Amino acid sequence: MERSLVLIKPDVMHTGLGGAIINRLEKLGLKVVALKMLRMDRALAERHYAIHKDKPFFESLVNYISSAPLIAIVFEGEGAVEKIRKAMGATDPAKAEPETIRADFGLTIERNAVHGSDSVETAEKEIKLFFAEDEIFSEEKR
Ligand code: RTP
Ligand code: MG
Repeated sequence: MERSLVLIKPDVMHTGLGGAIINRLEKLGLKVVALKMLRMDRALAERHYAIHKDKPFFESLVNYISSAPLIAIVFEGEGAVEKIRKAMGATDPAKAEPETIRADFGLTIERNAVHGSDSVETAEKEIKLFFAEDEIFSEEKR
């Protein structure tokens, strides 16, 4: 079954709207199969965003994502990656389609409320950074 890693980023945790975002994603018919609150350390942040290491915003992004606790969730379901990307909207909340999560909850292009894996392959790599296999309660294991 397809899985995706979602991060409810620190800006949302400050405003207390994490539950609302989880609820929206559950309404897509996706299941929470793993969840934890953690503060990402620098090493984890650099690994998670390694693909952006040469971008001008990398330093700021790593500082931000490791600045405060966040929630990491594995969602499972048919087309999970694509469904979540669509529900999140464009990276910049100012350009995100109306009623998407980033349009409704994002503050800036950096503080944009959520992360969602951008492919099935990336999802499997990202999930391993945050969860051990025995912390993931896939439907077939219940
Ligand atoms: P994400 O990986 O967090 O789901 O976001 P995304 O695919 O929509 O965007 P991506 O290009 O992968 O960028 C990763 C995160 O970096 C921050 N960012 N800042 N200042 C900037 O120009 C800029 N561009 C991107 C955002 O937090 C973005 O989600
Ligand atoms: Mg990305």
